[in-house]
Amino acid sequence: MDSAAIVDDAIVIEDNEDFVVEENSIKLLPIKRSADDGLNHAHVSVKKSKSTYNDVESGFRLFRKHLMRHLNHSLQAEQTRIFKYLTDTKEEISRVLKQSIIQKESHSIIMVGPRNSYKSFLIDHELRLLSKNYKNQFITVKLNGFIHSENAAINGIAAQLQTQLEELQGTEQTLAEPVLKEQDAINTDISSGSLTEVFEKILRLLDSAATKTNNVNKSNNDTKITVLFVFDEIDTFAGPVRQTLLYNLFDMVEHARVPVCIFGNTTKLNILEYLEKRVKSRFSQRIVYMPQLKDLDEFANTVAELLSPLPASLENDNEQYLSQWNNLISELVKDEKSNLFNQIRLNYDTFKSLATFKNSIIPLIGSGQNFEDLKLSMLSCKLIEGYHLNQLQNGLTSTIRSLSDLELAVLIAAARVSLKSKDEMINFNLTYVEYKEMIKSINAKVPTSSNLTTNRHLIKLWEKDDVKNVWETLQGFTFITEKGAIGIRESAIAAFYASNYQFHGSTIPFDLRLYQMQVTLKELRTVVPRSSMYYTWTQL
Ligand SMILES: Nc1ncnc2c1ncn2[C@@H]1O[C@H](COP(=O)(O)OP(=O)(O)OP(=O)(O)O)[C@@H](O)[C@H]1O
Ligand SMILES: [Mg+2]
Repeated sequence: MDSAAIVDDAIVIEDNEDFVVEENSIKLLPIKRSADDGLNHAHVSVKKSKSTYNDVESGFRLFRKHLMRHLNHSLQAEQTRIFKYLTDTKEEISRVLKQSIIQKESHSIIMVGPRNSYKSFLIDHELRLLSKNYKNQFITVKLNGFIHSENAAINGIAAQLQTQLEELQGTEQTLAEPVLKEQDAINTDISSGSLTEVFEKILRLLDSAATKTNNVNKSNNDTKITVLFVFDEIDTFAGPVRQTLLYNLFDMVEHARVPVCIFGNTTKLNILEYLEKRVKSRFSQRIVYMPQLKDLDEFANTVAELLSPLPASLENDNEQYLSQWNNLISELVKDEKSNLFNQIRLNYDTFKSLATFKNSIIPLIGSGQNFEDLKLSMLSCKLIEGYHLNQLQNGLTSTIRSLSDLELAVLIAAARVSLKSKDEMINFNLTYVEYKEMIKSINAKVPTSSNLTTNRHLIKLWEKDDVKNVWETLQGFTFITEKGAIGIRESAIAAFYASNYQFHGSTIPFDLRLYQMQVTLKELRTVVPRSSMYYTWTQL
């Protein structure tokens, strides 16, 4: 699709100053507005400021780039806007980091939250702020449970420590050659030996690094280097077998002479249950749960924050755009009838995801040619709708995945009947009987021993009349087609019967009309997720 191609382009541009959407490509974009509008604005800008046209353009380009960077959270730390609902969490993270980097205390903390809940973002943000003033006082080691096995993690720690220590000492320009050499010697064989030995070596290395710089700077506190571990997917290391790595890391927090701070990120709510006793007892028990957006109001306000960069974060010349833009957004978000608010509500009711919203708005901002243009497309939100249309898939597989539970049950029942019958013909009657059997036998498996068990734990068996509706939906999706509707015939007689059937078809009662399946049970088995309660029914 043309617009899809442009959408891609628009994403690529985010950090490219020279980006200009080509004149002819913009015509392909589905922005609909009255010709009047566009012309008027064009006239106005030409008449008013013909001489400064180029300046305005480059100013707008700067603004657009700024906005894009704001959306991607890639502005400088001071200009980055932290959402209101995250402020408490941010404060807590900031406190822990400051205690360990400035006051040289050891800490451990686990952050729990779903994907894209800004765990890594908040940590990175605070680290960027701190690295302004305390760059030489800490080393960050990043590990990820999806990438590192226990052994790879050790190597990873060693490698990251080595490069960062070298960097640190390089910037201070204080270390004499022999010291570096000594460290190299330690580093080369650092990852040999048992895990505990390796950790001892790492600690010794850190200690030596701290004392070496001490000698030069004389002031004790300033030069102790804090080691900060940011450990993504920490739950993958909390397996059933000995959790040696976690044990050693948490042990370091308690016993090492250098300050150590561990940040663990995970999506598992019950992370504490994963930890072995000896690991758990060394963990500080400090767990931060990432806050979630509570209601539509909060969601809308957060979207407004996502769309409006901090005021005065842009140079003077372009501030006018910024304040106009921010005003526009705050008006639109407050107005429940605006297109933007509709999109927000739609997102809240479906994905409830800021990341999805952000992705859908990037093409809109990337394709704005001037401020008026951007404003208009923001008012109409057509490009957001276009983005969502592009995301839709219309293959058979994705249609099956989009079916409701009842529709899926009836479809599977129909496929079963088709497989059982000789000529692969099905009708509504037979399908309903099959469906009824399926539901009854699933319900029979629901334990009924407890007195509390009532009907609400059972799957509802819908009446025949209700299921007719579903039958027609399946027809609409062309999962089932009427017998006469199939085009190619093997023989003239078959064609004759088929056309005859067409003739009779309409007089046959609804329940008995013959249909053919367009998906087989075998195919359904490959598409229906294993977690579905109907999965076992996808074979006879
Ligand atoms: N490099 C990037 N560019 C643009 N947006 C990003 C980038 N990295 C993350 N984001 C966005 O920032 C938001 C927060 O992401 P973050 O990585 O902090 O989530 P997380 O909680 O750490 O998730 P996970 O559990 O997967 O690690 C998301 O909306 C994500 O889309
Ligand atoms: Mg993360």
